[in-house]
Amino acid sequence: MLSKKIINEINGQINEELSAWYTYLAMAAHAENLNFPGFALFLRHQAEEEHGHAMKLYTFLIEWGADVELMTIKKPTGSYTTMLDVFQKALKSEQHVNDRVNALYEQTFKEKAFAAHLQFQWFVTEQIEEVKNSQWIVEQLKMAKNDAAAMLLLDREVANMAASDDGA
Ligand SMILES: [Fe+2]
Ligand SMILES: [Fe+2]
Repeated sequence: MLSKKIINEINGQINEELSAWYTYLAMAAHAENLNFPGFALFLRHQAEEEHGHAMKLYTFLIEWGADVELMTIKKPTGSYTTMLDVFQKALKSEQHVNDRVNALYEQTFKEKAFAAHLQFQWFVTEQIEEVKNSQWIVEQLKMAKNDAAAMLLLDREVANMAASDDGA
């Protein structure tokens, strides 16, 4: 059986994932407005992934007969400027989720909640990828320094990243 603490934490994580879904949607719209279809595609793809993460946790709670408690999804706070600004914020958010997922992974281990522990192992691995990708894009954007030719190339490359991702 899952402890009340873990159930609460998982419900909180569902909210975090849905907030990330919402924020990536806002970022994708901003990229569209700046005429970067590749970045927009990548951000939209990220949004779908976050939604998928929330649903994974939702299904997990239901399978365990635990109560799903859906909370208010906060309005994306982002007023964004450049693509670098967008991805620096995305990176910060992924690092935040990374810390939470690691804390949950530790908690499930402490409570010997092995099914939940395995579930969070998937999230730990997934977050490594998410942080790595956003970190890489931030570094590339810093190098591009808003140069038009470099930005167009990067826009295409990032579109390819979204297309080649298996969409876990
Ligand atoms: Fe996520
Ligand atoms: Fe993420």
